[in-house]
Amino acid sequence: MTTPLTIAIDGPSGSGKSTVARAVAERLGVGYLDTGAMYRALTWWCLERGTDLADVAAVAQAARTLPLDLGTDPGEVRVTVDGTDVTAAIRTTEVSTAVSAVATNREVRPVLQQRQRDLMASIAQRTGGVVAEGRDITTVVAPDARVRVLLTASEEARLRRRSTELHGDADASSLEATRDQVVRRDRDDSTVSRFDEAAEGVTLVDTSDLSLEGSIEAVLDVVAGETAAD
Ligand code: DC
Repeated sequence: MTTPLTIAIDGPSGSGKSTVARAVAERLGVGYLDTGAMYRALTWWCLERGTDLADVAAVAQAARTLPLDLGTDPGEVRVTVDGTDVTAAIRTTEVSTAVSAVATNREVRPVLQQRQRDLMASIAQRTGGVVAEGRDITTVVAPDARVRVLLTASEEARLRRRSTELHGDADASSLEATRDQVVRRDRDDSTVSRFDEAAEGVTLVDTSDLSLEGSIEAVLDVVAGETAAD
């Protein structure tokens, strides 16, 4: 029996990580796991139920019981919590603003990290592989993944992309409007993850000067290189 192809991709927001990870999974014909969506779904559920996000134990308990159904088809990722489709709701500004408080909760992280390991194993078994993306997949969740990639991009490149995503352009005023948001998210996220350099055995891919297609191909090249000896 061939070993499942497990691929871990980490990176900051705006590195192109989600789009690249989905495309790589699609082209390799394997399942996809968006771990950020898990932190987002938990945040949505806490807000929905009025759980105080500052109550570390209460949010951790919510993480243990979160009735989450996370789609693993890279072509169409649907997120459901307790039967409610929250695919769009977990991307709202309200959730995006609150999610860092949940993601930096030290009791929450081990709970979701274990769920992520279990999900990676079941997806890999079902589809022959998995592409899991997040902030700590290469280092904590799946340090033993077959291929580990850290996607980075300069702050300017990440600002430009996020601005285009939010405002449909990247002129001076929309760049300024986006700067605060990106810088704040980086600062909040940096308490759980740093992206200055790749951990040992992790391949760094800098997407600053790459197109989307170029970024996808760069990661596929890493996969081909790492699995050539198989
Ligand atoms: O990638 P994203 O924007 O959907 O992530 C949402 C939040 O979850 C963000 O604050 C980073 C955090 N996160 C994390 O701490 N660990 C992960 N493996 C994935 C996301």
